Amino acid sequence: MKKIAVLTSGGDAPGMNAAVRAVVRTGIERGFETFGVRRGYAGLIDGDVCALTARDVGGIVQYGGTFLGSARSHEFTTSAGRQRALSNVKQYGIGALVIIGGNGSQQGAFALSEMGLPVVGIASTIDNDLCGSDITIGVDTALNIALEAIDRLKVTASSHQRALLVEVMGRHCGYLALMAGIAGGAEDIVIPEQELDPETIARDLHDAYARGKKHALVVVAEGAKYNAEKLLEYFRAHCDRLGFEMRTTILGHVQRGGIPTAFDRLLATRFGNAATELLAEGKHGVLVGLINGEVRTTPLKEVVSSRKHLDLSMLDLAKVLSK
Ligand code: F6P
Repeated sequence: MKKIAVLTSGGDAPGMNAAVRAVVRTGIERGFETFGVRRGYAGLIDGDVCALTARDVGGIVQYGGTFLGSARSHEFTTSAGRQRALSNVKQYGIGALVIIGGNGSQQGAFALSEMGLPVVGIASTIDNDLCGSDITIGVDTALNIALEAIDRLKVTASSHQRALLVEVMGRHCGYLALMAGIAGGAEDIVIPEQELDPETIARDLHDAYARGKKHALVVVAEGAKYNAEKLLEYFRAHCDRLGFEMRTTILGHVQRGGIPTAFDRLLATRFGNAATELLAEGKHGVLVGLINGEVRTTPLKEVVSSRKHLDLSMLDLAKVLSK
C-alpha cells in the first residue's frame, strides 16, 4: 500500500481543514495509507509526521485555521533544509505529498517535485494572488469578514459624519481590498496595482460629503504605498485644511480566523478530493485550482513562474457605484 502525506503551509486560510479531510478520506477510499505533517515545511524538516485516519479528520470541517498547524520555514528555503525534508519523507516511506498553501508554499512544492518527489499542490491563500486558480481557499471567508467589519463601521461612521479608512490584508496583492471596496461601497480603493495619492483621496471624500453622503469610506490594501498608517499620518497633518474627521481600522489577522464559508468548505473539499485522485492516477507536479468554474490543474513550474493579474477594470466599476 502506498503512503501519502498532506501538509498545510504559509498563512493559514479558512477551509484548509476541509481540504485535509478530503485528502485523507479520498486517500483511504483509494487504498492509500494517509499521513499528516504538522507545522508545514518546518515539521517536514523535523520529521513531525503522524498517521491520519478517517476519524482523525472528523469534526474539523467547520473550523478555520489548520489543525495540522502551519509555519513559515526559512530553513526550507535552503537546499540543506529541503534535503532534510526529503530524507524524512523517504524514512517514513511516504510516496507522495499534497501541499496546501499559497505562493511560497507552492514554490516549495515545485522544489520538492524537481527533487523527484511526487507532489500535488492545492491553491490556498486569503490573498488570491496565486496563478493556476481564479480563486483560492480562504478568500471568500476573509472577504466576508472584511465586509462584516465594513458594514459595522459604516453604521457608526454615519452617526458622526466621519470618514473611514479600513485596511485589509493581501500582502502585495490588492484583490481583497478591491473586492471588499466594491461590495462594501467604498469611495476610494487603494491598491498596490494602481496607487492613489492622498490629495486625490481627500478630494474624493470631500466630493462624497458634497453629494450628501453621511460618511465616506476608503478601503486600503496593506501592500499599497499609502497604506492605512501612511494615509492617516497625511490626513492628520492636513486635518484643518481637509475639514473632516478620519478614523482607521486595520483588520489584520482577524480576516484569517473566521469560520469557513460554505463556498470555502466546498472549494477545499473539491480540491482535496481532486489532488488525491490525481495521485491515485499516478499524476503529479501540478497545482489543483479553479479555472472558469472547473477544478483544473496547472503545472507547478508554470504556477511559480507566472504572476497573477488583477482585473483593474473593476476599479472603474467601483467608481461608478460610489456616486
Ligand atoms: O499570505 C496571507 C497573509 O495573511 C497576508 O495577507 C499577510 O500579509 C501575511 O499573510 C501575514 O503573515 P503572518 O501571518 O506571517 O504575519
